[in-house]
Amino acid sequence: NPQEKKFKIGFSQCVTNDAWRKTMQEEMFRELSFYPDLSLEIKDAQGNNALQIEQILEFQRQGVDLLIVSPNESSPITPIVEEMYQSGIPVIVVDRKINSNLYSAYIGGDNYEIGITAGQYIKNLLNGKGSILEIWGLRGSSPAKERHRGLMESLEGSEIKIVSQIDGEWEKDTARIRLKEYLLQANAPGFDLVFGHNDVMTIGANEIARELNLPSKIFVGVDALPGPYGGIQAITDGVLDATFFYPTGGDKAIEVAAKILAGDSFEKENILQTAAVDASNIRIMKQQTDRIINQQSSIFRQMEMIESQLKIYKSQRGLLIVFGITLFIA
Ligand code: FRU
Repeated sequence: NPQEKKFKIGFSQCVTNDAWRKTMQEEMFRELSFYPDLSLEIKDAQGNNALQIEQILEFQRQGVDLLIVSPNESSPITPIVEEMYQSGIPVIVVDRKINSNLYSAYIGGDNYEIGITAGQYIKNLLNGKGSILEIWGLRGSSPAKERHRGLMESLEGSEIKIVSQIDGEWEKDTARIRLKEYLLQANAPGFDLVFGHNDVMTIGANEIARELNLPSKIFVGVDALPGPYGGIQAITDGVLDATFFYPTGGDKAIEVAAKILAGDSFEKENILQTAAVDASNIRIMKQQTDRIINQQSSIFRQMEMIESQLKIYKSQRGLLIVFGITLFIA
């Protein structure tokens, strides 16, 4: 019950309907179980900047003690985050950035580094020569811009060209629809490799390529999420050739929130490690992530058991007190 907790955390999440965001939120709740003083409420901005601003203001009216925010797009969300921070609410920015440093802490993977590493990886795969079709995440969001910038920089001076760019806006269906439209144009240039800013869009591109019987292509994505529809499985199935692990930082966000609320010292910039995943390391990655998934679900089962034990204990204690009072009066 959030009313009984000492500190209220509000999390303004840009979207919640994909597996990567769900993983982030699960990590948060798992970590939260270590801090009985903290409650967490998530509001879903559904990819809508105006709604996200509205929801952040609502958190302020509710009197949250700390705000976590994953901004849908940087520019529209920057002023409201600055305003919250300047009003004295500690703000933790996760995954997507704002255009200013008026926040308490940032937590996320290094997207520029992912772009650079992806570029090097692609240069190797294509032996320094070839053509790329790039599928963009939402243009106004920082991971899309940084992944693109890193890629461009590491391809500089090579004979690899980005011949087409599609706006997938981070969504599998959008990527599928736009790619299909694009490929059905008579004069669409050919390409050797698809680089998608995330795995779901890249997996969608592979589906369309097969549907249209394109000659075989290479598919490189980002996220490397475990689970049946994630990048780890897609590498195992040969649907993706490579992906780059992009941690959600959900657990770290709660850890830093707890430090801030306790008045402990904390790092402002928390940059999480990324890594390439492909056929060469997929077996070990799959083993590890399967193990984590199992452990995660047993942690959740344990949390539920503790909750229900606590409820039984509380109702029994209530009964005992009533019983005691009755005895006393008698
Ligand atoms: C999930 C997602 C990820 C991507 C991240 C970028 O909503 O689209 O696939 O890596 O957001 O912010």
